[in-house]
Amino acid sequence: MKFFIDTANLDEIREAAAMGVLDGVTTNPSLMAKVGVSNVTEHYRKICEAVDGDVSAEVISTDVDGMIKEGLELIKIHENITVKIPMIKDGVKAIKALASEGIKINCTLIFNPIQALVAAKAGAKYVSPFIGRLDDIGQDGMELIHDIRLIFDNYGMETQILAASVRHNQHLLSCAKAGADVVTMPFNVIESMIKHPLTDSGLAKFLADHKKSMG
Ligand code: E4P
Repeated sequence: MKFFIDTANLDEIREAAAMGVLDGVTTNPSLMAKVGVSNVTEHYRKICEAVDGDVSAEVISTDVDGMIKEGLELIKIHENITVKIPMIKDGVKAIKALASEGIKINCTLIFNPIQALVAAKAGAKYVSPFIGRLDDIGQDGMELIHDIRLIFDNYGMETQILAASVRHNQHLLSCAKAGADVVTMPFNVIESMIKHPLTDSGLAKFLADHKKSMG
């Protein structure tokens, strides 16, 4: 299972990468706006230099020609750039066109399994089902991951399930059990992955006992 970080914040990306278990990055226009990026190209370049893995950069256009044009520009930044395209009709056409040229695509804003199936058929490398946003409206986000896994396995589809909109550790655990290929997490979830109060109290006791025994 791959771990991606879901942020455009370079400090967070570098700190997560320093742990040595980070496989990639996802961004979106909201995350880019949050860190106030003025030079988008330069910012993506810095992200790509910080992490050895795919970096999703989202298009802003909503028409097929615009998305293709943006995608072709984005991939010039770095070989790890993956073009992030929304699940809309023109998006599917753009996925087909770009994927046919061997360009890596992450199809975003997936909220039902059929959307994932369409994106996979169009040639996306990743589909991004948004778990948390489904939970937010009273649906079961994890059911979507299970359904997509079943469908992709039924047909031997190689498109990777990139679980997104992850809010907490429990989502990560459920995704691992459900067979998601990738989970993209905000920095606070990355940090919480290694936390357990019994680990901290256990370590404190070990160190105290060691100090005692040394006199
Ligand atoms: C996916 O790539 C998106 O950037 C992200 O996971 C959206 O999550 P949110 O619902 O926390 O905004």
